Amino acid sequence: MKSVIELKNVHYSYKSGNDESTVGVKNIDLDIKQGEFVVLLGHNGSGKSTLAKLFNGFLLPDVGDVIVNGINTKEEKRIFEIRSKVGMVFQNPDNQMVASIIEDDIAFGAENLGIERNEIIRRVDWALSAVGMLEHKKHTPFKLSGGQKQRIAIAAILAMLPEILILDESTAMLDPKGRKEVLEVVRSLNGQGMTVILITHYMEEAVSADKVYIMNEGEIIDFGTPKQVFGNYKAIIQAKLDMPVASRIAHMLKMDGYAVDDCLTVEELAEEICRLL
Ligand SMILES: Nc1ncnc2c1ncn2[C@@H]1O[C@H](COP(=O)(O)OP(=O)(O)O)[C@@H](O)[C@H]1O
Ligand SMILES: [Mg+2]
Repeated sequence: MKSVIELKNVHYSYKSGNDESTVGVKNIDLDIKQGEFVVLLGHNGSGKSTLAKLFNGFLLPDVGDVIVNGINTKEEKRIFEIRSKVGMVFQNPDNQMVASIIEDDIAFGAENLGIERNEIIRRVDWALSAVGMLEHKKHTPFKLSGGQKQRIAIAAILAMLPEILILDESTAMLDPKGRKEVLEVVRSLNGQGMTVILITHYMEEAVSADKVYIMNEGEIIDFGTPKQVFGNYKAIIQAKLDMPVASRIAHMLKMDGYAVDDCLTVEELAEEICRLL
């Protein structure tokens, strides 16, 4: 499979005046393949957002290289090309709205890319359908629920036709229903081939990922399939993370001497318990 984002020995520090600096990320090696669903987990300040900003060339590494679709983000002349391929959705949907009518809001980013008018009209309808919000096209975004607003924010990015979609804690401000709506949209886009990088605090959102990265103090301390990562209790504890409920219970049973396999979902756990009985 083709690599879409490759990082080799990447370091980034935030400089303040008088020679002081804070490490954002360090020693980062990673390779994200086209079409993967990748989840980044880690405590506040562990470097997740810094990594995301390195992915789209918003930040450039102090050491090492970030290669997006074969282009090094240090190639200044091609930064626009990279930014148009890597779309980012942030935490607060209200800060991402620019227009008072939804269709104008969706068109804004694509207009800035210099896309031709008829093409924009097509893209707006397509993007709104993709997030299930087409019927709201002529409405104002301000009366929508949090989940709906975040779907509009995703549609605005989609209208720019990114190949890679990054969501940086984009479900953090939503209620469980809104979170579910947004995740469904993201999963469906991934099902159609879009590479997705999801940054989240919710362990349950990592369960269906292709690959999970665990960050701690600016470094990747573990990665693998969700089963591998949540089976490695040591890294989870080091990163001060929770586990999905089913993984935690399976782990507790194991500690009590029961022969259960690692579990990710309640269904898997139920099967393991039935097997024991
Ligand atoms: N603009 C900034 N200026 C200085 N330090 C920053 C800035 N943004 C982040 N940091 C620091 O970089 C580290 C990583 O932060 P961040 O990437 O935002 O982590 P996360 O997204 O996992 O919460 C933290 O120590 C944080 O305080
Ligand atoms: Mg962050």
